[in-house]
Amino acid sequence: MTDTLPPVRLGKPDVGAAELAAVAAVVETGMLTMGPKVAEFEAEIAKACGTAHAVAVSSGTAALHLAVIALGLEPGDEVLVPAYTFPATANVVALSGLRPVLVDVDPVTMNVDPTKIEVGPKTKAMLAVHLFGRPARVEELPDLPLIEDAAGALGALHRGRPCGSLGIAGCFSFHPRKTVTTGEGGAVTTDDDEVADVIRQWRHHGWRPPTATDMPSPGLNYRIPDILCAIGIPQMQRLPELLAARTRIAAGYSERLQDLPVVLPEADAGDVHGWQAYVIQLDDRDRVLAALRAQGIEAQIGTYALHRLGAYRDQGPFPGASSVFERGMALPFHTSLTESELDRVTDAIRSLIS
Ligand SMILES: Cc1ncc(COP(=O)(O)O)c(C=O)c1O
Repeated sequence: MTDTLPPVRLGKPDVGAAELAAVAAVVETGMLTMGPKVAEFEAEIAKACGTAHAVAVSSGTAALHLAVIALGLEPGDEVLVPAYTFPATANVVALSGLRPVLVDVDPVTMNVDPTKIEVGPKTKAMLAVHLFGRPARVEELPDLPLIEDAAGALGALHRGRPCGSLGIAGCFSFHPRKTVTTGEGGAVTTDDDEVADVIRQWRHHGWRPPTATDMPSPGLNYRIPDILCAIGIPQMQRLPELLAARTRIAAGYSERLQDLPVVLPEADAGDVHGWQAYVIQLDDRDRVLAALRAQGIEAQIGTYALHRLGAYRDQGPFPGASSVFERGMALPFHTSLTESELDRVTDAIRSLIS
């Protein structure tokens, strides 16, 4: 009887004794923020991405906001943003006094469709998303300053190069549904010394670190506490292991679902997927999603078609984004999913669509 089985969780952070001990050690020091753990965490992130700098901040949204600010654009300038993404990607552009111009996505890759891009006189930058960890084909994008929304793409490689190192700045999230988590947290990676300086300054109210005597511009408080960085350091050290476990779970789903009429997620040949989420596409998604939930299987929609939200309603239509918004379904996805849970999820899908 499926209704007596425990729920299959959508996400479950892979944290334990090492993270707990690291938090306790920070608490002992009494230095809860802006201590040594921030720089240590940043060094791990920069090493993983192969960039000169990583600046850790309070969330993925903060990372995106500061990266957009660091572009130094003029009010009213336009930034291209995929129409299917987590809304923060566009929100940070709008809240920086710029105009997010939506671009449709390829309904198979779920990433921006380069053939749909129109560059006008006010188009000054592009924010490309490696959605759910699938590397975007950045080489097909127009020659514009590029910010990568790599929120879910830590450890992903495009043509052998780490996501987060492919543009001016890469933005990561450490929300609990991400491969590496700090609870809340984010980071900007960059090779550009000036971009890194501007972001460090804006993260800390506008003071110019480390020995601030002047505040050249107003800033924000987007700092991340040492306590959270202490969680992030052992997580980063386990990134290869965490990503391998997620890759194994993704392969387990794909093997079980391959004969069904669903679109399975994958990366381009030769790329490494970051596997933030495992999102399939299928007909009649709402019925299947509701039935899975009724069985205790915590499936979820993929993400949002921005033109179908009040804030961005005036820019449509975007058929690719509408299609994946209606058909996308994220399956339970975390490192402690068992083979029998994979069987349970995929058997349930099979019986609902066959
Ligand atoms: C593609 C994308 N961009 C940005 C964000 C925002 O990150 P955060 O929740 O850490 O602010 C997310 C979070 O889910 C995301 O998936």
